[in-house]
Amino acid sequence: MDKLVIEGGRTLKGEVSISGAKNAALPLIAASLLAPGVHVLHNVPDLRDTRTILRLLESLGLSWEREGTTLKIDGTGLRYSEASYDLVKTMRASVLVLGPLLARLGRAKVSLPGGCAIGARPINFHLMGFEQLGVRCDLEHGYVDAYIDGRMQGGTVYFDIPSVTGTENLLMAAALAKGTTIIKNAAREPEIGNLIDMLVAMGADIEGKDGDRLTIHGVEQLKAAESRIIPDRIETGTYAIAVCAAGGRAVINNCDPGHLPSLFDKLRLAGVDVEIGTKSIRINADKKINGIQAVDVTTMPYPGYPTDLQAQFMALMTMSDGLSVVHETIFENRFMHVAELQRMGADIQIDGRLAMVKGLGRSALKGAQVMATDLRASSSLVIAGLAAEGRTDISRIYHLERGYEDMVGKLTALGATVWKEDE
Ligand code: EPU
Repeated sequence: MDKLVIEGGRTLKGEVSISGAKNAALPLIAASLLAPGVHVLHNVPDLRDTRTILRLLESLGLSWEREGTTLKIDGTGLRYSEASYDLVKTMRASVLVLGPLLARLGRAKVSLPGGCAIGARPINFHLMGFEQLGVRCDLEHGYVDAYIDGRMQGGTVYFDIPSVTGTENLLMAAALAKGTTIIKNAAREPEIGNLIDMLVAMGADIEGKDGDRLTIHGVEQLKAAESRIIPDRIETGTYAIAVCAAGGRAVINNCDPGHLPSLFDKLRLAGVDVEIGTKSIRINADKKINGIQAVDVTTMPYPGYPTDLQAQFMALMTMSDGLSVVHETIFENRFMHVAELQRMGADIQIDGRLAMVKGLGRSALKGAQVMATDLRASSSLVIAGLAAEGRTDISRIYHLERGYEDMVGKLTALGATVWKEDE
């Protein structure tokens, strides 16, 4: 198993280029199950999670090839309808094959993902949605066994909480259902818009993109199409926060700043100079001139502040000059990074879903041995390690590799001293 070693205290300087979004690539790859023929996806990141979903597609009978960042997936060979525990346990997003399998084969047997390091994360909304379309869902021996005789029938689905993958699963199922489906209180994350664009290019009839009410007029069949994965907004935000924490000046390229409506306001309130271009962001965080101001943050569904950037922002707040309150409203257990940040000298108190962070100034953190517990917790430890005095060893970085493409290469290009080592 690899660990990541960081010699902290170097300011970051230069340019970094953002990869395609993990959370858009996963549903778009799953959508290629919906039609025979060769689907072409551009700007696909090469991550542990994208490799896992491609293995899952192979196990269902599909073939694929990758050339650089372009992926060609042939949806013709689909013949199996079962996703095993071995694949689903390593990546919850495997549940995204449920909708397409039901739409195309009328049957899907997918292992229940179970809980994970950030919370219980049930899939009851997905199943309730399929049932509204006439699917029977049984839970047996740790698997969801879902089937329908013939085509799904359009219906109305209301989500109590806007679920990202729930909305995506229902969109894919309803695209091939008979009649019209309405999804109320749908999630509005940009990754969902990316999926809708792909489905429409495949021949689907969907109204309401970017809104919380989606109307899907089912069609009899879809065809393979060519699509492009949007830039990863969470990777963008992670590098932006890293530059603020380590200090320095950097340009973040190939991103879509419009997909991070809340982050830049928070960074400006923290006292950082942020210049936004159409596809780039310039961060100027000269640490000799500016301290970091304490800023409160509450995670919310899009366009609110993303839960996937909560841990990173908290790492920055440990170095502020005041008290900030971080409120996690999406997941019930997403403070696993706190104990690790405390090992590095942070002063944080947790009370339920609130974390009170007492900023100890720019020199708050000292390097230490810490452990990554999930993907975004890992990136907050990287940010802390970059800003800390001395050496930080982060073990279990396979979590990081699930969602960040070539992080060592990108940070090195920005002037950080960071490398991987066998544990
Ligand atoms: N929820 C339910 N029942 C459901 C589905 C969701 O109670 O059937 C609850 C969840 O427990 C959570 C809330 O609803 O409290 C929202 O969860 P959502 O379904 O939106 O999360 P998700 O679709 O499982 C995606 C991302 C996550 C990201 C969340 C929130 C993908 C593949 N994953 O998960 O990404 O944190 O939306 O924005 O798109 C990550 O990339 O590190 C990551 C965890």
